[in-house]
Amino acid sequence: MAQLFSKKANVTPVYFLIAVILIILFIIFAFWYWGSPYYTDVGYQPEQPVPYSHKFHVSELGMDCRYCHVGVETSAVAGVPPTQTCMNCHTMIKADSDSLKVVKASWDNNIPIQWIKVHKSPDYVYFDHSAHTNAGIGCVSCHGRVDRMNVVVQMEPLSMKWCLDCHRDPTEHIRPISEVTNMNWKRSEDHLQFAEQMIKELHISPPTDCQGCHR
Ligand code: HEC
Ligand code: HEC
Ligand code: HEC
Ligand code: HEC
Ligand code: HEC
Repeated sequence: MAQLFSKKANVTPVYFLIAVILIILFIIFAFWYWGSPYYTDVGYQPEQPVPYSHKFHVSELGMDCRYCHVGVETSAVAGVPPTQTCMNCHTMIKADSDSLKVVKASWDNNIPIQWIKVHKSPDYVYFDHSAHTNAGIGCVSCHGRVDRMNVVVQMEPLSMKWCLDCHRDPTEHIRPISEVTNMNWKRSEDHLQFAEQMIKELHISPPTDCQGCHR
């Protein structure tokens, strides 16, 4: 009897240990899963060196994205404008404003403004803006309503799953190429028909094989 009793007592701590290990493993999994980029990059909104507002320059002044992001139709990178682009207007407009001090210093000393990058794909991912704008994918599909942002914020996860979700079926996102920078464009009633025709005419076929995005 005494022997049986002591055996049971030895087993209980083993169950306890297994339970503790399982709980620890779950916590590690939870951090890895919910803490992975799919969840954490969205909402990234660094403070920029100049209080430049897309909301004001795009919505109030009616400026097109391509005035500043000149590479978006022709190259892989959209690019951020040089100080020269700002000075096209700001040599005259609000030239002495405090908000434009950094811009003026950049211009006077010929050193670029240190804008902080918001969207960033890892180096092992190949991404090309022009391939998307020339296939009728609008900025809004990937960057959200930039025309309503005082400070740019990342709206989409830019994760592999996110890219692939659209690559497998882009119909919902296709629009006329002339409308890619139009933040107010809306799908028509016969959108599906229009999108399918455009996919056929332009031979739109986004890559879903690994080499397509990892070259
Ligand atoms: C007057 C020039 C100007 C215009 C017009 C403009 N932008 Fe920008 N954009 C900038 C500058 C400067 C930055 C860098 C500072 C910042 O993030 O606000 C920027 C940053 C961005 C970023 C974030 C870049 C990053 O670091 O990841 C996105 C996305 C963007 N613009 C999209 C747009 C879209 C979409 C439009 C048109 C609806 C537009 N921009 C119109 C000047 C402009
Ligand atoms: C097409 C002309 C134009 C261009 C190009 C332009 N801006 Fe502006 N910007 C304006 C106007 C107009 C205002 C509003 C001035 C006012 O409030 O009276 C303004 C206001 C601003 C303000 C707020 C100034 C204040 O004192 O309230 C900042 C900051 C600014 N712009 C930054 C930039 C930057 C940075 C760039 C380049 C990426 C740029 N702007 C390009 C026309 C322009
Ligand atoms: C299919 C999704 C997609 C579309 C459509 C798209 N972008 Fe981007 N954009 C991205 C990604 C992803 C990055 C990050 C790229 C990197 O780090 O290599 C980015 C980065 C940027 C940047 C930062 C500078 C750069 O070139 O890396 C700007 C500015 C920008 N986009 C503006 C625009 C504008 C303006 C449009 C519309 C004409 C647009 N984007 C359309 C996905 C998109
Ligand atoms: C909203 C839809 C959409 C999203 C999101 C999207 N793509 Fe695409 N992508 C397309 C379409 C449509 C094409 C097809 C272009 C064609 O066939 O002409 C394409 C084409 C491409 C190509 C082929 C370009 C070439 O020159 O052959 C690459 C690479 C690519 N995408 C990478 C990415 C990456 C990486 C992401 C995520 C960061 C992404 N895409 C997100 C719609 C999207
Ligand atoms: C449409 C573009 C696209 C295609 C196709 C694609 N990937 Fe990716 N992949 C990405 C992007 C974007 C990331 C970066 C994700 C991030 O930063 O969160 C990534 C990340 C990865 C990573 C890094 C680990 C991770 O999950 O962050 C691996 C491994 C990977 N991809 C393998 C593959 C393999 C294997 C295939 C083929 C079955 C493939 N990819 C096809 C876009 C793509």
